[in-house]
Amino acid sequence: MESNIHYVASGQFLVAAGRQPLILKALLGTCVGVSIYDTVAGIGGLLHILLPEPVSGASDTHPGKYASTGVPAFLKALIEKGAHPDNMRATVAGGALVGPVSEQDMALDIGGRTAEKVHELLKRYNIPVNASETGGFFTCTLELDLNTGKNRICPSGLLRDPEEAFHYTAPSADAIAASVTGLKPIPQVALKILRMVTSEEADFKTIAAEVRKDQVITAQTLRMCNAALYSGRNQVASIDDALILLGQDALIKSIISSSLKTFYRQSDSVYSLCKGGLFHHAMGTAIVADQLAAHTGAAHRATAYTAGLLHDIGMVVLDQHITSACPLFYRGMKKENHRILEVEKRILGVDHCEVGAKLGLKWAFPGNLIHAIRHHHSPEEGKDGDKLAYIVHAADIIMSRFQSGVFPESSKGSIADRLAVIGMGPADFEKFIDQLPMGVFSMQPETVLFKKT
Ligand SMILES: [Fe+2]
Ligand SMILES: [Fe+2]
Repeated sequence: MESNIHYVASGQFLVAAGRQPLILKALLGTCVGVSIYDTVAGIGGLLHILLPEPVSGASDTHPGKYASTGVPAFLKALIEKGAHPDNMRATVAGGALVGPVSEQDMALDIGGRTAEKVHELLKRYNIPVNASETGGFFTCTLELDLNTGKNRICPSGLLRDPEEAFHYTAPSADAIAASVTGLKPIPQVALKILRMVTSEEADFKTIAAEVRKDQVITAQTLRMCNAALYSGRNQVASIDDALILLGQDALIKSIISSSLKTFYRQSDSVYSLCKGGLFHHAMGTAIVADQLAAHTGAAHRATAYTAGLLHDIGMVVLDQHITSACPLFYRGMKKENHRILEVEKRILGVDHCEVGAKLGLKWAFPGNLIHAIRHHHSPEEGKDGDKLAYIVHAADIIMSRFQSGVFPESSKGSIADRLAVIGMGPADFEKFIDQLPMGVFSMQPETVLFKKT
């Protein structure tokens, strides 16, 4: 019988009786996964931890979020289910570095410290560790097969390294430019709203009037609100309902996000490790960029949100070309420690930042958005004093390391130095991650947006 797979989300654990056709699985970047199985009782579980211990002082209802609270709570749940500590065996995986890595970045080694804490606690509770693969740059999956009690740690999709010979001719610049015309563009009304939102004096009445005029945007917005709020049951029937329920700010965000969703959904093959991954990554980056702007005051919040949402639009254009070079892309990512721009340039002659900026010019995005799209992997190459690209860069790094299973991308240069530009030290960085709403790292980050605070 084929086993079902249950994904354990970050900050959570699941305990189940064994000898059933069920595989528990966690996608791990900087997060650390711990699986424990009682070999006698046949009871096991999986824990997916985000941070070593609470740092923000914010009370949180997820003990599984931290090693310090997650490991004891996980063991307690296993014992309550009937497992015995003497028969428990553990496997530990994940804990990849946040970035590649200068001396200063070692202070940001959150994954390393989480893994250390996990080992310390397992030792304290006398639970032997059968296998442990932590650290490095790469994302992996940890699986526990409840039928057999066997664990597997596998490198995630981008590390597939096909052995077969592969012949590939790079596309010309004209072919790449031509592929833009084959894409369904962002609707004109959405572009207009997007420009209004980032002009920093957005007038909600004008925006709402534009939305009401456009049935497609209205329908997309309502669909997103209903999916996030009511699991798809239609409760929000009009823009006015949505305004009452969500408030102005969240409604504007849902309007621009939903109009981008259709654009991102045109590509999902190679860049993303899961369906809809590019859009999930864009949504999460937007939410984190908004929070970073609020936390640091380094950029206008709505502009940071929009820039986060748009930063990888170039990937939608490059997707079809990278798909036909798929094995080269995987090999390149492995060799280059996931420095995606180098790999794209080598294979396609151009990278997604450059293509995204060209798209932004074509659609007459405001200059600061184009600048952030162009420099989101290398913010110091941009204009002095423009911190928007730094905000998007930091949000991008946070999402690609903590929302694992989408895709890991990294850049050259010190992340600690870049965080310093927006006024954030290593301790503050960890505190900031701790304060983020947990749902942002899920596969539906937009639910965070619609949560009433
Ligand atoms: Fe990117
Ligand atoms: Fe990104």
